[in-house]
Amino acid sequence: MGTMARIYIDELDKHVGEGVQLHGWLYNKRSSGKVRFLLLRDGTGVIQSVMVKGGVPDAVFDKFDALTQESSFSIRGKIKKEPRAPGGFEMELSDIPHVYQIAHDYPITPKEHGIEFLADRRHLWLRSSRQHAIMRIRHRVVKAIRDFFDERGFTLVDSPILTPAACEGTSTLFETDYFDLGKAYLTQSGQLYAEASAMALGKVYCFGPTFRAEKSKTRRHLTEFWMVEPEVAFNDLNDDMDLAEDFLEYIVQSVLKDRAAELKVLERDITKLQNVKKPLPRITYDEAVKILHDKGLPFEWGNDLGGTDETVVSEQFDRPVMVHRYPSEVKAFYMKRDPENPKLALAVDVLAPEGYGEIIGGSQREDDLDVLLERIKEHKLPQEAFEWYLDLRRFGSVPHAGFGLGLERTVGWICGTEHVRETSPFPRMIYRNTP
Ligand code: 4AD
Ligand code: MG
Repeated sequence: MGTMARIYIDELDKHVGEGVQLHGWLYNKRSSGKVRFLLLRDGTGVIQSVMVKGGVPDAVFDKFDALTQESSFSIRGKIKKEPRAPGGFEMELSDIPHVYQIAHDYPITPKEHGIEFLADRRHLWLRSSRQHAIMRIRHRVVKAIRDFFDERGFTLVDSPILTPAACEGTSTLFETDYFDLGKAYLTQSGQLYAEASAMALGKVYCFGPTFRAEKSKTRRHLTEFWMVEPEVAFNDLNDDMDLAEDFLEYIVQSVLKDRAAELKVLERDITKLQNVKKPLPRITYDEAVKILHDKGLPFEWGNDLGGTDETVVSEQFDRPVMVHRYPSEVKAFYMKRDPENPKLALAVDVLAPEGYGEIIGGSQREDDLDVLLERIKEHKLPQEAFEWYLDLRRFGSVPHAGFGLGLERTVGWICGTEHVRETSPFPRMIYRNTP
C-alpha cells in the first residue's frame, strides 16, 4: 500500500534520518501528558512511534484513541536512533495515512492467560512476542539442518508420508482408507526409504512431518512432528555418533549466533547452550543403568529408559549425552546387533540436558538378508510389505547407519519451553487437533 517503497522494521538501521512508511498492527500504546506513543509490530519487529499534540495535525493526533490492540494501520515519519526504545529505533510520527481495521476486544491481553485459553486461540497467540521468538528460532534450526547436510554433500530425498506398512512398530499408526488398495498409514519415520535413497545416492537426508498415534500425554509428545533423518552408506555406529555430535554443535551454535535477541526474549540461560560443542560424552546403556542404580533408582536391566531415567542420566552432564548399545529387545527390528554381544543393538539415543530427554534416535542398520528376515518374523511384521526393503540387502548390501532428530523437541530444548507444543505453529496432540 502507498507509493513509498515497502520497508520493514528489521531494516530500519539503513533508514536512520529518512522518512518512511510502515504497516503493521498495534502492539501497545501509552500516553504521557501531550505525548502519545504507538508501538507498531510488523512481523519483523516492534517500533515505537511518537507524536506530540500540536506537532501533528489534530486529525492525526486524534486517531490515537481509536487504535486498539491488534488494530491494523500504517504510520509515516522520520526514523531516529533511540537506544531506550524497544528495537533501538524510534519514529517521529508525522501521519497515520491508513487504518486498515480497528480490532474490537482482542482476546489475548498482556495479563496472564491459562494455557488452554491460549491454545484454543493459537492462531492469535502466534502474534505474541514469545511465540514470535520461538517461531524465529524454529526457522533458524530448520535452516541450520538443511545447511549442515547441504554443505556436506548430502542429497535431500524426501520419503513418502502415505505408506503401506509400519516402520517403528505397529502400535502407533494412524490409518486411512486407500482406494482399492486397502489401508494406508501416515509415516512414523522416513528411514526405510532413506535407506533405499542412501544406496542410490550415498549420503542422503529426508526432512518432513511424521506421525505417531501415541497415547502419551507428556510434555515431549506430539502426534505430528517434524523429523530430519540422515542416512549414510558405509557408516557404522561410531560414524553415526560423529555425525550426530557435529550436527548438534552446528545447530546450537547457529542459533546462538543468529538468534541472540530471540533467546533474550525467552530469557533463556544461554550458558547451558554454549557448552554444546564436541566431543559430546558417549556412554553405554550399561553405564547409564549404573548411573541410575547409583542414584538409587530401581531400574531393571533390559528396559528402555523412561522420561525420568533420561533426565537423571542427562543431569550428570553439562551437554547432550549419547547413550549407545541398548538391549535389542526394546529397539526396532532394523537395528543391527552388536557382534560383540548380540543382546545389544548398535543403537544410539542422544539425550538433551535439563530434562528435555531424547532428541535423537539412531542406529547402524542390519545389512544381512537372513538376519533381517528373522527380525521381521520375530517382530511379526508382514514380510510382503518389506520385500522392497529386503531388496536393499539382496543387491549390493553395505553397512550403513543413520538417525532421526525430532525438530520440536530440539527447538523446545534450545528455547527452554515448558512443553513441546509451543514449538509447533499448530500443534497436534491426542487431546487437541484445533485450530
Ligand atoms: O527414536 P525415534 O522413534 O527414531 C526413529 O523414528 C528412527 N527411524 C530414526 C532414524 O534412525 N532414522 O524418533 C526419532 C526422534 C526422537 O529422538 C524424538 O526427538 C522425535 O523423533 N520424536 C518425537 N517428537 C515429538 N513427539 C513424539 N511423539 C516423538 N516421537 C519421536
Ligand atoms: Mg527413540
